[in-house]
Amino acid sequence: MTEIIANTKKLFIKTYGCQMNVYDSDRMADALAPHGYEPTGDIMNADLVLLNTCHIREKASEKVFSELGRMQELQNLRRAAGADLMIGVAGCVAQAEGEEIARRAPVVDMVFGPQSYHRLPEMLSEATSRRSLHPSQKRAVVDTDYPEEDKFEHLPAASKEVTIKRGLTAFLTVQEGCDKFCSFCVVPYTRGSEVSRPVNQVLTEARNLVAAGVKEITLLGQNVNAYHGLDATGRTVGLGELAFLLADIAGLERVRYTTSHPRDMDDALIAAHRDLDILMPYLHLPVQSGSDTMLKAMNRRHTAAEYLRTIERIKTARPDMALSGDFIVGFPGETDQDFEATLSIIREVGYASAYSFKYSTRPGTPGANLGGQIAEEVKTERLHRLQDLVNAQTTAFHAACVGKTMPVLIERPGRMPGQVGGRSPYLQAVHLDGSPDLIGAIHQVEIVGTSTNSLVGRLKVAQAA
Ligand code: 5AD
Ligand code: SF4
Repeated sequence: MTEIIANTKKLFIKTYGCQMNVYDSDRMADALAPHGYEPTGDIMNADLVLLNTCHIREKASEKVFSELGRMQELQNLRRAAGADLMIGVAGCVAQAEGEEIARRAPVVDMVFGPQSYHRLPEMLSEATSRRSLHPSQKRAVVDTDYPEEDKFEHLPAASKEVTIKRGLTAFLTVQEGCDKFCSFCVVPYTRGSEVSRPVNQVLTEARNLVAAGVKEITLLGQNVNAYHGLDATGRTVGLGELAFLLADIAGLERVRYTTSHPRDMDDALIAAHRDLDILMPYLHLPVQSGSDTMLKAMNRRHTAAEYLRTIERIKTARPDMALSGDFIVGFPGETDQDFEATLSIIREVGYASAYSFKYSTRPGTPGANLGGQIAEEVKTERLHRLQDLVNAQTTAFHAACVGKTMPVLIERPGRMPGQVGGRSPYLQAVHLDGSPDLIGAIHQVEIVGTSTNSLVGRLKVAQAA
């Protein structure tokens, strides 16, 4: 058994959902590190488990409650071994369900939403003191307020361990929340309205990450290209201008951002794609549907033609831009014709990759009250057809890379000895023969083949001695 050092408690965070939750989990670990909590990969040895939940998929809450049943068993095991386990539920399900979690799952010590992470140490000490109460009086600490203060300003700088774990690529949240209110989506309710972090805060965090060895930063936001942070003079800076400021950081080699809304692809951002090599030519720009009737019902605030025009502007600025998207099939009222329009926009754009979903209602969203729900078999059939089309496009995109030489950020040892792996500018996994010395830098790699979900490469330019 591993010896537990006095004052060192083990923290296990289970992260569900989007990249923003991955980022938030790191920040929660950062917030707890000064209080003696060290991250562990072994849940069986944890003193504190945090479930960082996601509300976007169907039956998200029910899945959390069944996970909490397992946590109760784990707590029993820990107690039988003379230890204990505290349990916190964070993220969007916590935000949406709040007190309901405390009521239905007495095993939980803390329930807190994404805007409260900086208060985690205080919540933990309050939850610890409540432990001494009689079980009939014990209540979880619930914090689902939207606070006035800026959580990012109150979160500590990245701790050493967490920074090391981040490796060569890192996420950096620049914007949170969404004001778009697409009629199917819970995000505006769970993450609240749009808030952008000030420019200097973003640049400082980016510089800290680069100083810790990070070469590639992915800027995160639910509606990232709506970013409108204030600079030191109180002027509003958009994502395009922010990209130029990031490009001045020595040692930062790649910048990506996700997720964008088509309406917020402004000229400044498109100009940044034209002028900055640091901005990778791969863009996740969901359209959800190719039918104007559906786009209107979804409250997307753009038409299919406007989306295509945006893609055209982007490709004019950056001809090698690869696109990815999200699609929903079976939104209420979707006819065969509407669905065909989605297939047709996919054919027209040609995606490098895509995520697709069957519509399912989220309580509290306007979509939940719409008539014309689509039968499950119809949704399934449409989803398969859509995925077959997108998969063929992904395969074609990979195949078109064969014979090209591209810069690959070599990130890790490969699956086989003597191999290394990394990412192309288009976010494709690339495997090649090479020594571990290559890890940590961008190398020119000739693509010589493809395998299921990745590319096979050959090192083009030997590393200088
Ligand atoms: N049903 C199906 N898919 C959804 N998404 C969001 N809400 C729903 C829903 N109610 C999809 C959208 C979004 C992605 C993150 O998840 O395509 O872009
Ligand atoms: Fe949800 Fe994205 Fe629409 Fe915002 S823009 S409501 S996050 S789907």
